[in-house]
Amino acid sequence: MPPTKLAATALAVLLAITPAFASNSDTVAFSQEDGKHFTVDGTPTFYVAEDGTVDWYTFSGFRRYHSECHVCHGPDGMGSTYAPPLKDAVMALDYWEFIGVVAAGIQNVDASHENVMPSFGLNKNVMCYVDDIWIYLRARGAGAIDRGRPAKRADRPESFAEHERACMGG
Ligand code: HEC
Repeated sequence: MPPTKLAATALAVLLAITPAFASNSDTVAFSQEDGKHFTVDGTPTFYVAEDGTVDWYTFSGFRRYHSECHVCHGPDGMGSTYAPPLKDAVMALDYWEFIGVVAAGIQNVDASHENVMPSFGLNKNVMCYVDDIWIYLRARGAGAIDRGRPAKRADRPESFAEHERACMGG
């Protein structure tokens, strides 16, 4: 087999066996653990019930986003003249890329990047809730929730409170 054909075949096999490859836009809740939802490949995701009740993490993410991110990225993930719309950005990033940018920031300041994305890696008010912010923004990006504060939310799961105590206290 010529090398290019071989490479194409290998890629086709890889695509077939690696769901994560194609699942960046997959936001469908496949499994659930104490009120936290995950896609089929285990990425945290949102869940909106038929009556519009959002899961606790989406609600928590709404609150955290609006205390830590919206000053630059605009309300409801809509973007501003200073920083890009995160509701769209999260649909193009995968979960780990998102975590990496939030933790490390973006330092390249040149003609096309004149504004700085700060590093939040040492900020517990962000890092302890980074899943929540991701989940909220994916819900916005997928069009599952409208702008504004979600009207109805699920109760706070006990495991959320445990994680919060351990993360904020430790
Ligand atoms: C001080 C202003 C500021 C704050 C606060 C801020 N950001 Fe940013 N962020 C930026 C700017 C500016 C960029 C674009 C940087 C670039 O492209 O050079 C950016 C880029 C990003 C990107 C990459 C977007 C893409 O298109 O790939 C992500 C993800 C992000 N920010 C997440 C967050 C999150 C989550 C928060 C809140 C915890 C936050 N930011 C708070 C200014 C900010």
